[in-house]
Amino acid sequence: MRKPGRNIDPGIYVRVLDNVEDAIIAVDQKGRVALFNPAAQLYTGLSERQSLGKEFEELFAGQQGLLYLIRTAIREGRSISDRENLLLRRNSGTPLPVSASVSPIYDTSGEREGVVIILRDLSRVRELENAVRRADRLTMLGTLAAGLAHEIKNPLGGIKGTAQLLSMELKEGPLKEYTEIMTREVERINGIIEGFMDLARPRPPQLSEVNLAKILGNIVLFQKEAHRGKEIDFQLHLDPSIPPIRGDENLLTQLFLNLVKNACEAIRKKGRVDVGTKVVSEYHMHTPGDRSSPLIAVEIRDTGDGIDPEEIDRIFTPFYTTKTRGSGLGLATCQKIVHDHMGFLKVESVPGQGTIFIIYLPFIR
Ligand SMILES: Nc1ncnc2c1ncn2[C@@H]1O[C@H](COP(=O)(O)OP(=O)(O)O)[C@@H](O)[C@H]1O
Ligand SMILES: [Mg+2]
Repeated sequence: MRKPGRNIDPGIYVRVLDNVEDAIIAVDQKGRVALFNPAAQLYTGLSERQSLGKEFEELFAGQQGLLYLIRTAIREGRSISDRENLLLRRNSGTPLPVSASVSPIYDTSGEREGVVIILRDLSRVRELENAVRRADRLTMLGTLAAGLAHEIKNPLGGIKGTAQLLSMELKEGPLKEYTEIMTREVERINGIIEGFMDLARPRPPQLSEVNLAKILGNIVLFQKEAHRGKEIDFQLHLDPSIPPIRGDENLLTQLFLNLVKNACEAIRKKGRVDVGTKVVSEYHMHTPGDRSSPLIAVEIRDTGDGIDPEEIDRIFTPFYTTKTRGSGLGLATCQKIVHDHMGFLKVESVPGQGTIFIIYLPFIR
């Protein structure tokens, strides 16, 4: 057993435990909690009083993965960890994805004294992984579909042309009307395919200085008009300290328009749509050249119908829609635009209460 170095103030050990972001929990050889640092309290929602002296079996009852790690480390006196698959149950709210490592502790005479459990919050990592996975799926789908869409457009042109020829041959009457329906429906398919090809087309953003506040202000004005039939209370909360960012003005307009439009459409009669911007400090983006830049978050929150938890993964899939006149391309397009701007997005929703979309964009100047 190493002793604290002669020059180290022992108080530093306590301060480190108090200030690290990882949850650190010590359990003695009898299985009782002997240390429960502030991060552990934050992670679990349990206070020091509720945890100290408790049996770990009781504290983590039902959490088989974690129990297995602790039992094994205590019994066999070896370190064991799970970096991937643990969900920590919390007093309130949703379980927290964590990685855990459990190591034996020895006292000064070399006797086993118990184990220390270190838990690390993986929720941010998981969010980023999900964002990457969605973006990958879209890229693959896009390449496949662009080829297919191209092949479909040619025969469609043929059908449209012949329907028009036929129409010229026919006198006014129901038959002529049929040819008009054919033309109209072919145009509709064409529209869908073009929307889809827009998604797949690898067009780099045309960068310029974009004033987010101006874009969002205009979108809100425009959507107020478009949804006059409903009682929607629009609120803008723009952080005035955000300078213009580098981005593609058309694409960013399309992105936020889609999101605000969805928010309004989720409200049946009466509700509220909040659009806000802020600088976030909890995330940092590493841009090429490894200069870390802060992020800007644009939040679009509505008090609409919300999205079922089982559906939330599907909403970004092209053509997924729950609306009778929806295209299902809005969010897939949003995803692509955000990706092209090197950002990522996050969605949270409670059915019956509302939805919040947060777009994170790097602050490239
Ligand atoms: N703010 C929101 N509130 C509730 N549901 C939403 C919201 N935004 C998107 N959705 C769901 O995601 C689906 C896909 O959205 P989108 O890709 O924009 O296509 P569309 O709006 O054409 O249906 C919608 O049909 C809806 O079910
Ligand atoms: Mg939409």
